[in-house]
Amino acid sequence: MNSRRQFLLGATAAATALALGPALAAPAKPQIEVWKSPSCGCCQGWVEHLEKNGFEVKVNDVPGPADYREKFGLAAQYGSCHTAKVGGYVLEGHVPAREIHRLLKEKPQALGLAVPGMPVGSPGMEVESGRVDAYEVLLVTKDNRASVYQRYAAKA
Ligand code: CU
Ligand code: CU
Repeated sequence: MNSRRQFLLGATAAATALALGPALAAPAKPQIEVWKSPSCGCCQGWVEHLEKNGFEVKVNDVPGPADYREKFGLAAQYGSCHTAKVGGYVLEGHVPAREIHRLLKEKPQALGLAVPGMPVGSPGMEVESGRVDAYEVLLVTKDNRASVYQRYAAKA
């Protein structure tokens, strides 16, 4: 093979790599699977918050989301309106995307994260006035003990 032909082949390969590069380099979005009630507006709000913040979301509309919380081993005291799974972890309630990204990065030994109840101002629970009630994102162990993973302060 002469050197010119070799050069052309090399250039073609480089151009191909450039064209494919961005597509190959784009990291796959982590997928969150959600179990929620079909009529729940705040659940839908949370799903949209996740989609806007780098997650791919698979939604299952089910008559009893709490059945899934129970099936995944999360105690009733941490319960909220929806249950989800990401990377083997359980998510319960209006957990902000920021803590989910952190969870996937830090990979702690845990069952997952929970925001019990439905705090006003948490993602999907925003109100027009902009009010936020203080709430905590809990890291829950497999034997259902909780510690504070992140604290959100109240805003009037
Ligand atoms: Cu809710
Ligand atoms: Cu919900």
